Amino acid sequence: MYLKCMGHLIPEEQFKKTKVVVEKFGAPGGMGEFLQKKLLERSEHTANWVYDYWLEDMYLSNRLALPVNSSPVMVFPKQNFRSQSDSLRFAAHLISGILEYKSLIDGRALPVDYARGQLAGTPLCMDQYNKVFTSYRLPGPKMDTLVAQKSTVMPEREHIIVACKNQFFVLDVVINFRRLNEKDLYTQLERIKKMSDIEEERLPPIGLLTSDGRTQWAEARSVLIKDSTNRDSLDMIERCLCLVCLDEPSGTEQTDTNRALLMLHGGGTDKNGGNRWYDKPMQFVIGADGCCGVVCEHSPFEGIVLVQCTEYLLRYMRGSPSKLVRAASMSELPAPRRLRWKCSPDIQTFLMASADKLQRLVKNLDMNVSKFTGYGKEFIKKQKMSPDAYVQVALQLTFYRCHGRLVPTYESASIRRFQEGRVDNIRSSTPEALAFVKAMGNSSKITVCSLKIELLWTAIKAQTNYTILAITGMAIDNHLLGLREIAKELKLEKPELFSDTTYATSIHFILSTSQVPTIEEMFCCYGPVVPNGYGACYNPQMDHIIFCVSSFRDSAETSSDLFVKTLEGCLKEMQDLCIKCNTEAKPADSTKRMDGTTKVMKNGSKA
Ligand code: COA
Repeated sequence: MYLKCMGHLIPEEQFKKTKVVVEKFGAPGGMGEFLQKKLLERSEHTANWVYDYWLEDMYLSNRLALPVNSSPVMVFPKQNFRSQSDSLRFAAHLISGILEYKSLIDGRALPVDYARGQLAGTPLCMDQYNKVFTSYRLPGPKMDTLVAQKSTVMPEREHIIVACKNQFFVLDVVINFRRLNEKDLYTQLERIKKMSDIEEERLPPIGLLTSDGRTQWAEARSVLIKDSTNRDSLDMIERCLCLVCLDEPSGTEQTDTNRALLMLHGGGTDKNGGNRWYDKPMQFVIGADGCCGVVCEHSPFEGIVLVQCTEYLLRYMRGSPSKLVRAASMSELPAPRRLRWKCSPDIQTFLMASADKLQRLVKNLDMNVSKFTGYGKEFIKKQKMSPDAYVQVALQLTFYRCHGRLVPTYESASIRRFQEGRVDNIRSSTPEALAFVKAMGNSSKITVCSLKIELLWTAIKAQTNYTILAITGMAIDNHLLGLREIAKELKLEKPELFSDTTYATSIHFILSTSQVPTIEEMFCCYGPVVPNGYGACYNPQMDHIIFCVSSFRDSAETSSDLFVKTLEGCLKEMQDLCIKCNTEAKPADSTKRMDGTTKVMKNGSKA
């Protein structure tokens, strides 16, 4: 399958060499067989044989800065705050919702998620939810650690960290076994706002350090913790439920694209870039100018869990009217506490370097959020095609039109059918997709419509089959990762399969894509995963599709605007093709899945 995935994406000579390497690896009695045996042994004593390997490879050993490179964001519908109290009221209401949601998680009262779409109906592992408010990604010199707090059913002292003007405040949300109500929360937020206004008490924007590369942040942190004041402050942040970032107005027009940018990096040091703490999984951003959303540290859970949580919160805020009495009186609650920092000259130097790095990231990100209104998944379903597969093929066509070739592509496929399952990869740049995009490049005189639609069908079928393989634990990326990592663990020489150039190419995902569906008026986006790549997040709805495309400006190869413009053209062409020829070319039983060989594993069985 690896050879099939790569054959058409690399030069022929290279492929010949790789084929020999793969055959040697897979030969009876060879290294592959040995490692596979070891992997099977591992599966006997772990709930999920790939989870730790995957977590380290995907996140914890990645040294890149979290903003843009790793942390996805959810951008809320723009809010119209007329005054500061409007935004604080919104924040208090949101925090109430967060506390409600957390008590559902703690009480194991969230309804179990079931798979939708392909192979619908299977219950999904709920483990990721337990990590939403209890995790912390601790930076390390070589690798980070995902730390988990114990969650309890009993209400105990719990706090949120509120970031305001780059200062951090402890907002206790459970005091004397009682959860603060919305009015209390509002009062406390007002107090925080006032405290943040006192210029003489302002401390350096320490949060900027968390926006740096992980090794640099680990180094800075090791200096920071030498002082006990700093240790206490770090401890409070590391043990909080989440952050609520009360942002200053950004001064930019509130378009979807600008709000996405602000959410991804805070707009840099002169805006809200320092008003963050990137190690914490959930940072709820409430901008005075109505730019709101969530920044998410990705290692503990997937975008789908983020969507479930944020959909709950938006519904909560719509369905449960704010319980604030008009004016909040001074309460007897203890005042929120400002976190103190002792900044040595060394820390100042680290801060300057982090600020500089963030500014470069801000300048570099090229983002385009766009709503394609030509049609949505309803039209695609009427063609008896999988909407997700269709969008993936459209993305391949777009890339081909822009760059004249196809590249290794990542599409996240949920493997939550398995205990502790996260994702595997659907390699969407299939040979079938290449045949289709090449045919679409030809003028209709050369490639007749019936052939094009046949190739589209074949490409969609190949994509759908791969999806089914991936969601049932039969894709290749996690498996290869497992074989590679177990060899490392056993201190064996790196098998040639993994030192081969083709392998490096195969995991350099120039196109990194993900479907994050929501019916709420919000959208998810993230940055590219390689310097010359695109991040493409999409949400197919009934009559439209939202695309969030990102790339880096300093790559001469990429342009988000060009990509999106080309994509819109491709989607229209594909629609025309379907309308023109689908009726004649459609297979007799087109709803039938074409995956006769796919082995569907039993519910709940091990990955
Ligand atoms: N004809 C008509 N309808 C079809 C069809 C066909 N041939 N094939 C699929 N459909 C329907 C489905 O029944 C489904 O209907 P629904 O909207 O009523 O539920 C709908 O089209 C969507 O199905 P499809 O487009 O095939 O995709 P999917 O929902 O199965 O999603 C993945 C595919 C890969 C996106 C999904 O399995 C997955 O893994 N999602 C998680 C991705 C993720 O983790 N993202 C976050 C990463 S941070």
